[in-house]
Amino acid sequence: MNRITGKVIIAGAGPGDPGLLTVKALRAVEDADVILYDALVNTTILTYAKPSCRLIYVGKRKGCHAYPQHVINELLVHHARSSRVVLRLKGGDPYVFGRGHEEYTHVAKHDIEVEIIPGISSAIAGPACCGIPVTHRGTSESLWVITGTLSDGNFSSDIKLAARSSATIVVLMGVSHLAEIAHVICELRSTAEPMAIIQNGTTNQQQAVKGPAYKIVELAEQYEIGAPAIIVIGKVVDIADAFHFLNLQEANLRLAV
Ligand SMILES: C[S@@+](CC[C@H](N)C(=O)[O-])C[C@H]1O[C@@H](n2cnc3c(N)ncnc32)[C@H](O)[C@@H]1O
Repeated sequence: MNRITGKVIIAGAGPGDPGLLTVKALRAVEDADVILYDALVNTTILTYAKPSCRLIYVGKRKGCHAYPQHVINELLVHHARSSRVVLRLKGGDPYVFGRGHEEYTHVAKHDIEVEIIPGISSAIAGPACCGIPVTHRGTSESLWVITGTLSDGNFSSDIKLAARSSATIVVLMGVSHLAEIAHVICELRSTAEPMAIIQNGTTNQQQAVKGPAYKIVELAEQYEIGAPAIIVIGKVVDIADAFHFLNLQEANLRLAV
C-alpha cells in the first residue's frame, strides 16, 4: 500500500519554560501546517508557527476535556491526510504519562508516517528548577516516577511499593491525593521524610513548598499550591536551597529581621 503524503510528528514541548523546548521540536513547530496542542504547552511556543499554520487546542484539564482521546486520534489522521506536516505537541515528554504511544500506534496503523521527538519531562526539570537533583551520589541511587491518579481516578498502589524503597519518588497528577500519599510516606518511611510540591515548575509562575511528610498537606493548603504540580519525596529534597520554597523564604526573612 502507498503511504499517504502527510506526516505526523508527536513532540514534547518541555515542562513549561519555552526555553526548554528542544531545537528539533522548535524546527517542527516552524514547519507544521497544523498543530494540535495540550493544556500544559506554553502558548509562547506557538508564536513560532508560520502564519498559515492551523492551531487546534485539544487540552485536557481535570474534569474538562476539549476533545476525548479517540477524537484526538482521529483528528491526527484526518489532518495528516490533507496536510503536509501535523504536529502533536504535548507537555513535557510525550512518552511520560503523555499517551504518546497510543497516538503513535493509531496514526501508524493508518499507514501514515509518524516521528517522535522526545521532550524534557516535568518529572526531572520541575525538581531541578527548585534545586532538587532527582539522584545524588550518596543520597539517592534511583528514581521512581509515578502517576498519583490512575485512569479510574484511584490512587496508584505503586506509591506503597516505592515508599518501601529508598528511591526518590516523583509523583505526577498527585495533588488531589496528597493527603493519602503523605500518609503512606509517614507509615512506610518516616513522618520526617522530606517532601516538596512544585506548581508550574520551570515557568515564571513556579511556586513550591517543602517540609516533612507529616506537615506537607498543611503547607500546601497554607500556600495554596494546586495543580499542575509535582510531588517530590526523598532525602534529595533537603539538598535544595531554601530560597526556592515559599515557606522557607518567609522563615529566612523572619530570621533576618
Ligand atoms: C498528563 S501528565 C503529563 C506529563 C508530561 N508528559 C511530562 O513529561 O512532564 C500531567 C502532569 O504533569 C505534571 N506537570 C507537567 N508540567 C508541570 C509543571 N510545569 N509544573 C508542575 N507539574 C507539571 C503535573 O503533575 C500534571 O498533572
